Amino acid sequence: MHAMKALVKERAEPGLWLVDVPEPVLGPGEVKIRVLRTGICGTDLHIRKFDDWARQTLTLPLIVGHEFSGHVVEVADGVEDIAVGDLVSGEGHLVCGKCRNCMAGRRHLCRNTIGLGVHRDGAFAEYLTLPATNVWVHRTPVHPDVAAIFDPFGNAVHTALSFPLVGEDVLITGAGPIGLMAAAVATHVGARNVAITDVSDERLNLATKLGVSLALNVSRDTLAEGMRRLNMHEGFDVGLEMSGNPAALRDMIANMTHGGKIAMLGLPAADFAVDWSTVVTSMLTIKGIYGREMYETWYNMSVLLEKGLDLSPVITDRFSYEDFDTAFNTAASGRTGKVILDWSA
Ligand SMILES: NC(=O)c1ccc[n+]([C@@H]2O[C@H](COP(=O)([O-])OP(=O)(O)OC[C@H]3O[C@@H](n4cnc5c(N)ncnc54)[C@H](O)[C@@H]3O)[C@@H](O)[C@H]2O)c1
Ligand SMILES: [Zn+2]
Ligand SMILES: [Zn+2]
Repeated sequence: MHAMKALVKERAEPGLWLVDVPEPVLGPGEVKIRVLRTGICGTDLHIRKFDDWARQTLTLPLIVGHEFSGHVVEVADGVEDIAVGDLVSGEGHLVCGKCRNCMAGRRHLCRNTIGLGVHRDGAFAEYLTLPATNVWVHRTPVHPDVAAIFDPFGNAVHTALSFPLVGEDVLITGAGPIGLMAAAVATHVGARNVAITDVSDERLNLATKLGVSLALNVSRDTLAEGMRRLNMHEGFDVGLEMSGNPAALRDMIANMTHGGKIAMLGLPAADFAVDWSTVVTSMLTIKGIYGREMYETWYNMSVLLEKGLDLSPVITDRFSYEDFDTAFNTAASGRTGKVILDWSA
């Protein structure tokens, strides 16, 4: 049995531990991957902190992480179209394949979804195995850093492409890594105005590098003021909620045009009130978004990159996996774009 390095939640207390664990063994229908890069997600920060959600959700010990890129090193008998040496990313939601939605091909709506690096061992390791049906092969050249963030990029694309954006005025609340990628997508596909809000000037500065029409700090300026700057009179056509912050959704609802559409990705930490009478009288549509569509979103992502979408400004920090503590602290600061760990050395 070979050993490998992995970032493990070993004990029921704050922290993560870089330890030697056995390399995973290939099972039927699976692919074994040598991990090159991983992305740090908010979920990983919750797991490191060991907050209430993590306490209730995790069974320890657990190899964490779900955002990765890597090279295929082994393929089970009978797996077709994936070859040793392929550069791949992975869909971190493992679905049952048997429920009504799975049977109908709506796999993102599976009720029995299992999360990589949450409900089973994840990708912050030198190797991982995944069902072949969860492996996305990059058929066009992609940098391994960008391939490592296909999971959150997919959240951004799934949300952004939920409603038609061509010629529309789009409001994105939250300029975290996912909001930034959604802004890049909305601009790329031909929205008229793309306005993005946050309370962090560092993140809004990143947004301006992506060519948004307006990057607004809502701790200083109101959305009404933002609309004036854009010479907008009737409200936003499409809203992408990407902060999880109650005030952001309330503000969005108040500034939508009649018949406006809201796609909501941000995960609020608790219940909160919204002005439902405005939702009704403005005839708004609010759609919840979880994960990525399998595999339409993945197709969209690859094609967007092939047609010149540039995500490089979104990746701001890179560390060796050995410096994971510094990397996690950087991601937790809330001031950066995406933070990448390099596992290739
Ligand atoms: N539904 C899903 O499948 C899914 C998947 C991944 C992440 N998420 C959620 O999506 C959201 C975005 O993810 P992320 O990784 O970019 O998160 P993040 O926490 O890095 O970014 C959220 C940003 O919102 C900003 N913000 C806070 N209050 C605000 C306000 N009032 N107005 C505007 N912005 C405000 C924060 O400063 C931060 O920059 C999070 O809520 C996350 O939990 C959902
Ligand atoms: Zn993630
Ligand atoms: Zn299912």
